[in-house]
Amino acid sequence: MTSPVPEQKENMGRPIARREARAKVTGAARYAADMPLVNPAYGYLVMSTIGRGRVAGFDDGPARAVPGVLEVMTHLNRPKLQPIKHFFAGGPALTEVPPLADSQIAYDGQVIAMIVAETFEAAREAANRLVVRYERARPSATFGSAGVEEQVTSKVMPMRKDPVLGDAQAALSTAAVVHDAEYGTPIQHHNPIELFSTSAQWLGDELTIYEPSQFVYGLRTGLAMQLGMPPEKVRIINDFVGGAFGSKGAVTHRSALVALAARQLGRPVKLVVTRDQAFTIAGYRHETKHRVRLGAARDGRFVAYHHDIWELNGRTDPYINGGIENSSAMYAFPAVMSTARMVRADRSPPIFMRSPPEVPVMYALESAIDELAVTLAMDPVELRRINDTDRNWVTGKPYTTRGLMKCYDAAGAAFGWRKRDPRPGSMRDGDWLIGWGCATATYPTQVSPAVARVRLVADGTARVEIAAHDVGTGAYTVIGQTVAEALAIEPDAVAVTIGDSVLPPGPVSGGSVTTASACSAAKIACEQILARLGTPRGAPTRERMAAFERLELGAIEETGNYVPASSKTRTTAGLYKGAVDITGGANLESDAKTMFAFGAEFVEVRVHARTREIRVPRIVGAFAAGRIMNPRTAHSQLMGGMIWGIGSALHEHTEIDTREARFMNDNLAEYLVPVNADIRRVDVIMIPEVDNEVNPAGAKGIGELANVGTAAAVANAVFHATGRRIRDLPITVDKLIV
Ligand code: MOS
Repeated sequence: MTSPVPEQKENMGRPIARREARAKVTGAARYAADMPLVNPAYGYLVMSTIGRGRVAGFDDGPARAVPGVLEVMTHLNRPKLQPIKHFFAGGPALTEVPPLADSQIAYDGQVIAMIVAETFEAAREAANRLVVRYERARPSATFGSAGVEEQVTSKVMPMRKDPVLGDAQAALSTAAVVHDAEYGTPIQHHNPIELFSTSAQWLGDELTIYEPSQFVYGLRTGLAMQLGMPPEKVRIINDFVGGAFGSKGAVTHRSALVALAARQLGRPVKLVVTRDQAFTIAGYRHETKHRVRLGAARDGRFVAYHHDIWELNGRTDPYINGGIENSSAMYAFPAVMSTARMVRADRSPPIFMRSPPEVPVMYALESAIDELAVTLAMDPVELRRINDTDRNWVTGKPYTTRGLMKCYDAAGAAFGWRKRDPRPGSMRDGDWLIGWGCATATYPTQVSPAVARVRLVADGTARVEIAAHDVGTGAYTVIGQTVAEALAIEPDAVAVTIGDSVLPPGPVSGGSVTTASACSAAKIACEQILARLGTPRGAPTRERMAAFERLELGAIEETGNYVPASSKTRTTAGLYKGAVDITGGANLESDAKTMFAFGAEFVEVRVHARTREIRVPRIVGAFAAGRIMNPRTAHSQLMGGMIWGIGSALHEHTEIDTREARFMNDNLAEYLVPVNADIRRVDVIMIPEVDNEVNPAGAKGIGELANVGTAAAVANAVFHATGRRIRDLPITVDKLIV
């Protein structure tokens, strides 16, 4: 597969290479655990090996006897910590249960102790020698397990309203055609290649933390609250994040424990979580169930959409995806009904993972649409076309821009969709059954307040500073490019500093808000600089130099405050306290328009007629997402998203032992993701789209766009190849054989 540098089309920035590329490929880039510390001690977590019950006691003698062991911290001796709130309750935490709170064990893989030693190896050995006496109880694992508790989400979390429009029940009872089916999506883990780590270093009463984070201000605030310190005494630094996908956005149990140990020992402590431990300490995508009822007239026009969803959760925290508020905006649905439910079991806390609600919800909806098209004997693209809409019917608010059908037309043409014989099993190549399928990709265009500081020096160099994060997406590059474009200088002349909580606050790097929000703040700062200089944008250097001389200044520094019109707080003040204020998408709570990015994905699968081996020789995606800041980094994002989507369809699945409520394949050998041999041709088409309403940068987030809908496109293609409809992901050989 070749990836030539993508073309710079209308409303796209230059396809420059990412600025940290060389540092990353040469190993010069320092990730959090690479940061040098003076005389560090090493931490190692001890996890519960039962799914529910309590710790009746420890025998820490053998652990303490390991040479080099400095500390065995458990709930019996852990220094005091203050509670913090869950991310979805306005706080920064993955879970509201404090680390090492008491003897209770709520799930398998709960942190029950931390060993600190002179070396990593000594800490690990001591962890293995710590004797834990358990009192066991029987855990509930997942849907259908004894002891789970079902709650209607809107009843326990009044903030989470289910979208309602018209009378869907009545419309379904009189619809000419009704599709009614259940779908399921599995547990998935983020598995970023960079492991979770925390290093803590105290200087007097000041704490520095090196930790890969999608939200340095949130981590700073959360840790300060836990430790009872003023936030300005805590600094979080991470230059690079080696993948996150949601797993590094909230405060997890480990950080405060490492900080406490470092304070107690009077020396830096470094903790790197192992791959298997990572499966329960930093969240995951929980399993979901869906019942979708889709009613249509004979001509294919939708008359009602009824989507009930069940989400698996732990016992205590208010984590919820929802997602019907977005899917119900997708098409002209004259009637909508939905009930979201939480099913509570004895499980480690789930958390957002790349396109958290859209991946499961759009898999169900886009599968249902394909099934309805089969019933109606209509082309599935045409079914979507006649139900295309320029507004969200539930709120009545128009889309700022909606490029969905342009995406279908471009991707369909590139794919050769016209040549498809719609009869299942009709397109065969020897022993291989060929299937073609398609589905809609979408992601709400979300924004957050953000603050950026930009300094332009008279010599034509500049600097931009914002506590944003590069989670591998190219944030350094596009933020630098934004400043370069605004100030009419070369990108190389702009220094970019991010990933440090002493900088002006950026938003959590979640919800695909970073580019739109950070670049908008940077652009505002640049405009303020140009206004002070009195030179028009793009003025030649000579004129600009003269302006600096006239003002008798060597440099001008401005702070740009970006506050979206839809912001609930209408200020950047909350950012400094680590508050999250993300709005956009369906915009249920503001008068702003409906804002989404769109895509259309077409997939070819080949299913072996006898072995049922499934291959994906090609996938074509077209995307319309407002301004593309850099087509090269965008291409990588979109390509990576589609590959992830293929993984969702065919590979990714954390299996659970339902007796012990324990994740079984907690390693990269058995947790399958697509590798090069699984991926053949991936074509990314970027459709030019101008949208000046979404934010000053004109950009719609693309980090979570392309992996939405892919699983449905693959499932639809598998149906076309085989006549078998798989409604439970992932689609594995065994499901096609039985
Ligand atoms: Mo992403 S799941 O919004 O960190």
